[in-house]
Amino acid sequence: MHIYIHIPFCESKCPYCAFGSHSDQFSITKQYFKALTKEIKATNFNKKISTIFIGGGTPSSVDARFYDEIFEYLRPNLSYDCEITSEANPNSANLKWLEHIRALGVNRLSLGAQSFDEKKLKFLGRIHNAKRVFKAVEDAKIAKFENINVDIMYGTKLDTKALLLNEVKALNELKITHISAYSLMLESEFSTKISYQKDSPILAQFLINSLQDIGFKQYEISNFGQICQHNLSYWRGDDYYGFGAYAVGTTGLKRYKGATNLNSYINNPFKKSIEELSYEDKMAERVFLGLRSIIGVSLDDLTPNMLQKAQILINEGKLIAKNNRIYNPNFLLSDEIYLYLS
Ligand SMILES: C[S@@+](CC[C@H](N)C(=O)[O-])C[C@H]1O[C@@H](n2cnc3c(N)ncnc32)[C@H](O)[C@@H]1O
Ligand code: SF4
Repeated sequence: MHIYIHIPFCESKCPYCAFGSHSDQFSITKQYFKALTKEIKATNFNKKISTIFIGGGTPSSVDARFYDEIFEYLRPNLSYDCEITSEANPNSANLKWLEHIRALGVNRLSLGAQSFDEKKLKFLGRIHNAKRVFKAVEDAKIAKFENINVDIMYGTKLDTKALLLNEVKALNELKITHISAYSLMLESEFSTKISYQKDSPILAQFLINSLQDIGFKQYEISNFGQICQHNLSYWRGDDYYGFGAYAVGTTGLKRYKGATNLNSYINNPFKKSIEELSYEDKMAERVFLGLRSIIGVSLDDLTPNMLQKAQILINEGKLIAKNNRIYNPNFLLSDEIYLYLS
């Protein structure tokens, strides 16, 4: 069983970000955690929890003690090797916060660095500098985190091969276990605030090769290094609980989402909007996600028409067939391959 917990607070709102997060709602932090704790405590877990992901927003933007009661309740339900990740911002992930959540059982840290280039950090509206990312990683190691991810973003108008090589050099110096490299994506409402790099696909391939050169093996279009079990479960299409405002969860063909207004969530943390997926929707999602990652796609998830087209791609060497599954050797082509198959 897998759990996602959403923390909708951030010290400042980045101009590119469409995640459910607010920088002006800290006055209701206490009420939010009361509702969140109530929601979690109302759940009877009938299977051991194998992964937890605390995301946001910025989980490190709130006092670490807010997580105490949640972990007290979850602890007896955790599998012995439960992977527990928390996202954090380098600005707020100080040693005290890191030591506290490590003591609660969090064993994987995911830091949003975005860049090590001061100009790019400014362009992205980040409130920390590169030095602060190094300090946060150093503190995470002092707090005994052995599994550390750092997020970067590429595809901004400032990115060049030289700039990306510097990002890779800095990442290499950090001695971490995992890197997420996200291509900048902009919802229409953000596209006037920030701009893209035109040569993105070439730079993407360059960045992927450079990350692999320093030993981070790509296992999903944006993910490299020591596999995150929580993410793998999403891509496999496993069910997961989603707790908190904005949090999405799934059971079978039902996908539910918490309120996207913090006061509504606080008033009733159990109220969810529900989307019913068809069996075909779920299969299409598995195909799409499988092509983007090492998970691959079961041939049983393909329609006869898709199977025929997949065979053409297998013959051309663009897909690899093994044990009743197909695998995509170039994740950057996943969207095109998916479109071709469907
Ligand atoms: C919830 S945030 C991580 C933690 C923390 N809030 C932070 O930003 O430091 C998850 C990650 O999504 C990525 N991200 C956010 N908005 C994005 C966008 N528009 N395009 C691509 N990646 C994005 C960033 O790399 C970010 O670190
Ligand atoms: S990127 Fe992270 S810090 Fe910036 S607004 Fe989004 S969730 Fe908050």
